[in-house]
Amino acid sequence: MNFDLKTLGLQAATTEKCDLLVVLVTEAKPAGKDAISMLAAQAIQSGDLETKPGKSLALYQAAGIAARRVLLLGTGNGDARSVQRALQGAAATLRAPSIKRAVVCFGAAATPQSVAAVVETVVHASYVYTTTKPKADARTLGRVVVGVPDAESDDVVEAFQNSCAVAQGVELAREWGNRPANHATPTLLAEAAQSLAGHARIQCKVMGPAEVAKLGMGAFLAVAQGAAEPLRLIELRYNGAAKNQAPVVLVGKGITFDTGGISIKPSAEMDEMKYDMCGAASVLGVFRALAELQPDINVVGLIPACENMPDGKAIKPGDVVTSMSGQTIEILNTDAEGRLVLCDAITYAARYKPAVLIDIATLTGACVIALGGVRSGLFSTDDALASDLQAAGEAAQDGCWRMPLDEDYGESLKSNFADVGNVGGRPAGAVTAAKFLQRFVGDYPWAHLDIAGTAWKGGAAKGSTGRPVGLLVQYLLGQAGNASPSADGAKKPAAGARAAPAAKKAAARKPSAKAAAARKP
Ligand code: BES
Ligand code: MN
Ligand code: ZN
Repeated sequence: MNFDLKTLGLQAATTEKCDLLVVLVTEAKPAGKDAISMLAAQAIQSGDLETKPGKSLALYQAAGIAARRVLLLGTGNGDARSVQRALQGAAATLRAPSIKRAVVCFGAAATPQSVAAVVETVVHASYVYTTTKPKADARTLGRVVVGVPDAESDDVVEAFQNSCAVAQGVELAREWGNRPANHATPTLLAEAAQSLAGHARIQCKVMGPAEVAKLGMGAFLAVAQGAAEPLRLIELRYNGAAKNQAPVVLVGKGITFDTGGISIKPSAEMDEMKYDMCGAASVLGVFRALAELQPDINVVGLIPACENMPDGKAIKPGDVVTSMSGQTIEILNTDAEGRLVLCDAITYAARYKPAVLIDIATLTGACVIALGGVRSGLFSTDDALASDLQAAGEAAQDGCWRMPLDEDYGESLKSNFADVGNVGGRPAGAVTAAKFLQRFVGDYPWAHLDIAGTAWKGGAAKGSTGRPVGLLVQYLLGQAGNASPSADGAKKPAAGARAAPAAKKAAARKPSAKAAAARKP
C-alpha cells in the first residue's frame, strides 16, 4: 500500500477524486462553509451522526463532493485511540473490493499520534490473509492519502513516516503468525529472516542442529528432539551505528507448533498453538521496520525455532538436560518448553555484550489470566528499561504492564535432581517463568515481554495482532534519538545511544512525505 501525507482542508477535500473519502469528525463540530463541513454539521444537528468513535454515516455520490463514497466517522475527542477505534469500525468498508484509492482527512487538527493511528489502523483494517486461502478477496486498497488541515509539522511528517514502517513490520509479523504450522516451519521462518537480509544494513545467519549441538545448547536441542522438522537458530543483525556500539538484543520465542510434548495439551483450541512463534514473528517485524527507517542503532535478533512434539524420541517429564550456561535443568513439564529454548538463546546472546536484552515470548497461559489481551506482561530487572518500554507501549498504543520479580518467586523452581526445575507450581505462573529466564541473564539490563495474551485473538476474529512490533520499534527509535513524541508530547533523549536531531532529520526528508507499506511480507 502506498501512503501520501498532504495538507488538505475540507474545502480542498471536496475535489479529491477517489473511491472513498473518510472524514474524521470530532466533537468540535465542523464550522467551514464547504460541502463536507455543511453536510457533517447538518447530520450532527439532526442527530443522524454522532461524534463518538464507532458511530458513522455513509453517503453516496453526494452533491459537490468528487469522491464516490463518503464516510463521516465520529472520532470523539480526536485522540489517537479514538481515531484507531473509529477506523477499526470502518474495516469492512476499507476492505471493500471496489475501493482502490482512499483519502482519509482530519476534520480538526491532527497530532503526530493521531496521524500514526490513521496509517497503522488503515493498514491493519484492510489486511486480508490469503496465503492458504487464495480465493479470499485480497486487499484492493492500494493508495491512501492522509489529509491534515494545517501544513504538516516536522513531528507529523516524522510520525507519518515511522508509522508507515511500523505498519509494514506489524503486517509481516501478523502474516507469519497466521500461517499454519505446516506453512511456517523453522526452516521457512529462517528463509523469511534470510530474505530480510536483502535490505540495507541487515545480515542474517541461520544455524541447524549440528551447529546448535556444537554450541552446547542442550535445552534447545531437548525441545526439538521429538520433532521431525529440524530446528533453526536464526541470527539477524541490523548495523546502523558504529561497530563498537553495544547492540539491543531481541530474543523471540519461535515454537512453530506447541503440542505440549509428552505433557500434551488438551485438543480444544490446540490449533492456536501455531501462534507460539509470535515472539519470533515480532522480531522479524521489527527488522522489517528497521529496514525502512534505517535508524542509527545496532540491533541483534535471535530466534530459536523448533516444534514441540510428542514422540518416541521426545523428552520425558523428569529428564535432566544441560543448558549452554552449564546449569542442569529438570524438565518436569515438557509443555514449559518456551523457557528451555529461550534460556540457551539468552546465554548465546552474551557474545554480543548487549546494551540491553529484551526477550519476547508467548510464554504462559498464566499471563493471559493475569492481563488478558489488553496489555503484555513486562518483567525487568532494570527500572529505566522498564519505564522506557512502558512509555514506548503507551506511545505506540501497544501497552504492557510491569510484573514483579521478587527473589521469593524463584523458590518454587528448586529441584532435587538438577540446578533448577523448568516449572514452579500454578501460582504466579507468569512470574516463575520469568524467574527461570532471569537465571540465564548476564550483567546487562534485561526485560521479558510475555505476549501470550496479546499476540493473537481467538474466536470469530481469530488472527495474529502483530504485537508488540509497535512497542519495540517505538523503543528502538527512542534509543536512536529518532522517536515520535511520546503520548505526553515529550521527546526523550536516548539512553546510552547517540541522540540524533529528530526534527532536522524529518525536515531533510520532508519534500517526499510518501511512504509505501508493502502488501507482501
Ligand atoms: N505456549 C504456551 C503458553 C500459552 C498457553 C500461550 C496458552 C497462550 C495460550 C507455553 O509453552 C506453555 O504451554 N506454558 C505452560 C507452562 C506450564 C506448563 C508451567 C502454561 O502456561 O500452561
Ligand atoms: Mn508449551
Ligand atoms: Zn509454548
